[in-house]
Amino acid sequence: MLVLGIETSCDETGVALVDGERGLLAHALHSQVDLHEAYGGVVPELASRDHVRRLLPLTRKVLAEAGCTLGDLDAIAVTEGPGLAGALLVGTSVAHALGYALRIPVVPIHHLEGHLLSPLISEPGLGFPFVALLVSGGHSQLMRVTGVGDYELLGDTLDDAAGEAFDKTAKLLGLGYPGGPAVAKAALAGRAGRLKLPRPMIASDDLEMSFSGLKTAVLTLVRAEMAKQAAKQAATHVGTGASPPGEAAALPPSVVADIAAEFQEAVTDVLSAKAIGALERTNLDTLVVAGGVGANIRLREKLDATTRRRGARVVYPPVALCTDNGAMIAWAGALRLREGQVPAADAAVGFGVRPRWPLDSLRRP
Ligand code: KG4
Ligand code: ZN
Repeated sequence: MLVLGIETSCDETGVALVDGERGLLAHALHSQVDLHEAYGGVVPELASRDHVRRLLPLTRKVLAEAGCTLGDLDAIAVTEGPGLAGALLVGTSVAHALGYALRIPVVPIHHLEGHLLSPLISEPGLGFPFVALLVSGGHSQLMRVTGVGDYELLGDTLDDAAGEAFDKTAKLLGLGYPGGPAVAKAALAGRAGRLKLPRPMIASDDLEMSFSGLKTAVLTLVRAEMAKQAAKQAATHVGTGASPPGEAAALPPSVVADIAAEFQEAVTDVLSAKAIGALERTNLDTLVVAGGVGANIRLREKLDATTRRRGARVVYPPVALCTDNGAMIAWAGALRLREGQVPAADAAVGFGVRPRWPLDSLRRP
């Protein structure tokens, strides 16, 4: 069973080929980071147009790499949501056009389901059930995963996602886009704990999270440090109004690094405490980490240590497959097909996208 996977929900065009028996055969990715960098975030219309340019060349590339042709495909898996509507439409249009022309089924995949099942690419033997920590630019969720398509929400963020907090903090600190890797890099030169930030909701007796207050605390810290610098230099730029992006550029790099380190420490403290809380509440001993923030080395160090102490284990996708990619979509499609969840080939005639789509709505009644 050869499945072509297509991912275009945000700012990465991802295409991959997965074989039901042999696993991942080839995958190709085009990141739009350079395209959006000047704007400090993703510009949806530019994202859609770039997916149009990249998708077919990437598809040809993975087919050539795997030594396959379109005629060899048994199915196409495509991200149907959640994500940017225009960007999603590029992927679904191509997938359904190919599916219709080749008379093969198109499997609609929930983007987060792709992330959630991606650790199984490197560990196909990983058994259900497990707890998943899904930490991306738009989500911070804890899920109990009982099987393919069977996801129960255990905890969620009440406001910003962890990745969003990284992105906003990077902007405040003048560290650029995307924020997660930029904050992590700056943090390497900093000392956590010299400046203090809160660990929101770490002691709440539930699995809920909140990260928007942390971002406000960073802003307050930046302003306080600016004021100290201004006093030191007898300069006059102590902020009075809103804080423009990169205001912290006037701060010494060592202060920016210390704030980045403390911020990363605060977010990862909360995420690891909540993840361990989820293992305790569910009495499960396997934690799967998925989504872009799962690439964070500090988070991995903490989760490795805390799960080891508990006699539990933690599984990550390979770092290259933590952020958005086509492999996780092809993989989720292959798993669904293996479970017999095969849509009819003629379902390809009509299609849509789901920019908003709660993951636990996939749960079978
Ligand atoms: O899963 P993903 O690629 O896209 C979404 O579906 O959102 O996640 C992107 C998010 C961004 O917020 C990015 O800043 C964050 O993941 N991220 C990181 C790291 N690499 C990516 N956050 C912290 N540390 C990293 N190393
Ligand atoms: Zn994602």
